[in-house]
Amino acid sequence: MNSEIIIAEDGAQLVEMLAARLVMTARQCIDERGSFSLALSGGSTPKALYQKLASPEWKDQIAWEKCDIVFGDDRAVAPDDVLSNYRMARETLLDFVPARVHRIETERDNLEQAASDYENVLRGLGGRLDVVLLGLGDDGHTASLFPNSPQLEVKDKWVTATPVASLEPHVWRVTLTFDCINASRHAWFLATGAGKAARVYDVLHGSKNVSKWPAQGVKLASGELVWFLDEAAARDIVRS
Ligand code: 6PG
Repeated sequence: MNSEIIIAEDGAQLVEMLAARLVMTARQCIDERGSFSLALSGGSTPKALYQKLASPEWKDQIAWEKCDIVFGDDRAVAPDDVLSNYRMARETLLDFVPARVHRIETERDNLEQAASDYENVLRGLGGRLDVVLLGLGDDGHTASLFPNSPQLEVKDKWVTATPVASLEPHVWRVTLTFDCINASRHAWFLATGAGKAARVYDVLHGSKNVSKWPAQGVKLASGELVWFLDEAAARDIVRS
């Protein structure tokens, strides 16, 4: 695994850099295999990136009709619920680009079956995801892999359901597992703001403890791990 830390002056510059890297990687994947699979992260941080990709000056830089959009996780709510990561992605990006969108069926009563069915969708996209976008929660979680949760130990599954999350919103989630994330070609963390600085330090320079800092569990077997940070979020690792 090769890893890289990219530090931009601020969130706006970071989004510009990430969008450019995404365009380059999408073109490379499409040239090599005729398609590009992208797992979107939820939360608030990636919204600016999705809006940038949907903007007139960027939206035609990716052959979206050759792209499969999937989700790193979603909350167990209806797809039009304000808490839904799918709804956030639809409103900021997916309504504006002609990608093939595969949402997690989070409205189903049997979430483990929904997770299993979603795994079949992912495996049908070609064996490993091209890019997985990841956020970093204030507690060190990523996707919906939360500290001290049994989902951190799930093996031989790519998708699993997780009971009520320890952080807002306190609802059930469906999430990619480490097995799925770590099989991907590229895993990109996106973290901005001083509020993330301590957690970025813990994950990158703290003691190795995946139960405590689940984001440490992202270790790609044969892929590229990149941290996209603004100066505020990188403050503590730069000082160290
Ligand atoms: C979710 C996300 C989650 C998110 C982090 C960071 O469903 O909430 O997938 O993993 O990326 O909690 O969220 P912010 O970007 O809002 O800080």
